[in-house]
Amino acid sequence: MPQPNLTDAPAFQALSKHFADAKDWQMRTLFTSQPDRFERFSIDAAGLMLDYSKNRVDGTTLDLLLQLARERELEQKRAAMFSGEKINATENRSVLHTALRLPRTASLVVDGHDAVPEVHAVLDHMQAFSDRVRSGQWTGCTGEPITDIVNIGIGGSDLGPEMTCRALRPFVHPRLSLHFVSNVDGHDLDAVLAKVRSETTLFIIASKTFTTRETMLNAQSARSWFLRHHGERDLPRHFAAVSTNTDAVRAFGIDPENMFPFWDWVGGRYSVWSAIGLPLALAIGFDGFSEFLGGAHAMDQHFQTAPLDRNMPVILGMLGIWYRNFFGSSSVSIAPYHQDLSQFPAYLQQLEMESNGKRVTLDGAPVPVATCPIIWGDVGTNGQHAYFQLLHQGTDVTPVDFIAALKPAHALDGHHMVLLANCFAQSEAFMRGKTEDEVRNEMQAQKIPDEQIRAVLPHRVFPGNRPSNTILMDKLAPATLGALIALYEHKVFVQGVVWGINSFDQWGVELGKVLAKNIETELTGPARPDAHDASTNGLIARAKMALSA
Ligand code: F6P
Repeated sequence: MPQPNLTDAPAFQALSKHFADAKDWQMRTLFTSQPDRFERFSIDAAGLMLDYSKNRVDGTTLDLLLQLARERELEQKRAAMFSGEKINATENRSVLHTALRLPRTASLVVDGHDAVPEVHAVLDHMQAFSDRVRSGQWTGCTGEPITDIVNIGIGGSDLGPEMTCRALRPFVHPRLSLHFVSNVDGHDLDAVLAKVRSETTLFIIASKTFTTRETMLNAQSARSWFLRHHGERDLPRHFAAVSTNTDAVRAFGIDPENMFPFWDWVGGRYSVWSAIGLPLALAIGFDGFSEFLGGAHAMDQHFQTAPLDRNMPVILGMLGIWYRNFFGSSSVSIAPYHQDLSQFPAYLQQLEMESNGKRVTLDGAPVPVATCPIIWGDVGTNGQHAYFQLLHQGTDVTPVDFIAALKPAHALDGHHMVLLANCFAQSEAFMRGKTEDEVRNEMQAQKIPDEQIRAVLPHRVFPGNRPSNTILMDKLAPATLGALIALYEHKVFVQGVVWGINSFDQWGVELGKVLAKNIETELTGPARPDAHDASTNGLIARAKMALSA
């Protein structure tokens, strides 16, 4: 049955009317008239706390947003995802990254058989392998323990492992250095190979399909580099693979003992919980990896069972709908106030933009409203000294997600208080702003002449009323990181349901891949390129000339 148009939904229309008033509300006033906003508009779940009180909403706004979620059948669609229905309709696949974090005692029948034992068989293999590498029992071909792990993968086969290994840096085994090569640009692999010794390096070739051009080329080059120093019979001690494509892994020459499979019901950008997370298991140990899965599972349970008005991913997702579809905000800035989360914005870019960067509904009709905003950001306090100027005084209203840990993983005096003070101050400044009167009074108190005050006054006013969420955790640790990632996964799901799109395919990346294959042949072949537009022909010809000179 075709799904009803989003803009025809009664709650969407009620929200449109409500917005006519709400758009002029001042959060300063809301905080004065509703002193219990923090208690009312904050949620604790799975080791995280979400404060969403600094948003341009009141109780009615939230009621209407949740009504919209219900009208879009969020609860039914959530149940369909968790039970393994083939909700990725364009690829005829289930979407079951949540099954990867189910406990061993659970059961989930997909396509006639239980997925949980298979998941745990791979986890057991990962545990045995990571224990041996970490203990030094697994040695390289000269009998030395492994010191360097090089993950070769791209997109979901890179961003998850890299982001999590960085985020959990204090938990990493002291003998192991983790390296991530993703770019087909040879400078990436070259820089890593220059740092490692072949005798003590383990390469993990990570690719769901095992056909991705970038990864396969990097893998071949790493293999050739290794074979310049050692023989074929040494390869099994230095190469492992993670993939759904067993035949291709075998054809590449990787020992099946060193292969870690996963399944087509795990999307690339949702795969860090599968064997794609092997670098993390190697880095922090299997107990830590289990805690990471446990944190995500706790968020899954919260998402499945908490009432919608106390449900963190639902609230986060619906607030995003409010800003994107009513205020017209075209981007969301992610501000982790934690250096070890420096890759989190990049991770979320793939998670959100590859999932919800879609323009047609599941029925193939154009989506009647704007979909995924641009996700961007960097760690605090660095962003404050770069682009926060625009967030405070630019012409766009950009919602910000602040993320912080209350306790640091270092013992340096003073730093953490300064960090947290800045994080909280920024959300306060976005909300409060600074009025003309406040600026004038401040300048008059400094005895600045009136004429000078008049000239700079408009430049020193902050409009404020700029929304933000703050997500706090006690410490950045495996379980809280797992919960944080799962929170955003489910937020993406909620928004995809409201927009009526398929959040789990990515056809938009295909065209460029096909065209690049053709151009690659033209760049290396003798013929003058003439099959393209004048610009593309010209660029290819220019490159051929330079390369042959
Ligand atoms: O090109 C996009 C994409 O398909 C992502 O969705 C995926 O995470 C990435 O490429 C890597 O794919 P693979 O793991 O199959 O190499």
